Amino acid sequence: MRIIRTKNYEEMSHAAANLISAQVLLKPNSVLGLATGSSPVGAYKQLIEWYEQGVLDFSQVRTVNLDEYVGLNKEHDQSYAYFMRDNLFDHVNIDPAKTNIPDGMNADGAAECARYDQVIADLGGVDLQLLGLGVNGHIGFNEPDDHFSCGTQQIELTESTRDANKRFFSSIDEVPTHARTMGVRDILQAKRVVMVASGKNKAEAVKAAFFGPITPHMPASILQYHPDFTLVADEDALSLL
Ligand code: GLP
Repeated sequence: MRIIRTKNYEEMSHAAANLISAQVLLKPNSVLGLATGSSPVGAYKQLIEWYEQGVLDFSQVRTVNLDEYVGLNKEHDQSYAYFMRDNLFDHVNIDPAKTNIPDGMNADGAAECARYDQVIADLGGVDLQLLGLGVNGHIGFNEPDDHFSCGTQQIELTESTRDANKRFFSSIDEVPTHARTMGVRDILQAKRVVMVASGKNKAEAVKAAFFGPITPHMPASILQYHPDFTLVADEDALSLL
């Protein structure tokens, strides 16, 4: 595990964008595993800037997103499909046909999860997986549990996650109760994993996940085992170390 320590969110975003950019330069048809949430937004902005400057070309890049809420369609402004278009896809030359996000509207959850695992397998796996970190240590929407998950699964969101994400909705009642997420095994199988963490509210989770025992009650802790894992975190997120 490597830690890149940065002063603040801007530096964290710049460093993470550099890692993603290097991946795309070295392998133009990379499979990027992408994340949502406020943590990766700055990195996406930087990638857009480099694309506009002609430094980066996304025309061959393929993407698989980590997760999606159940019950939100692609046009809903809180769906992760919308988030990705808004924060990255609509601003670079990525081919929409090469982007993948679990379908939150497929009424058959099990079939949708199986389909998504097949999508990942057909792409030959993920070259670089970008992750945020939930305040409870979740990755994607893999919530604390008694075991680590395998493939894509439908999960019930914990109250703490719904509470953390309610800031994006008009009330907590509107926050979906379920989501579909790549499994922990899927994430671990990525060739390279990069996590961005910023702010004091992530400090407890950073400390527990990367300086504590490996346990499914702190899902991110399994990344300690990953052979190519980089945590890009700012001083606030690292403040309890
Ligand atoms: C959500 C997402 C995660 C994300 C986490 C942290 O629950 N499913 O993938 O990492 O929130 O979000 P933020 O970066 O906004 O703190």
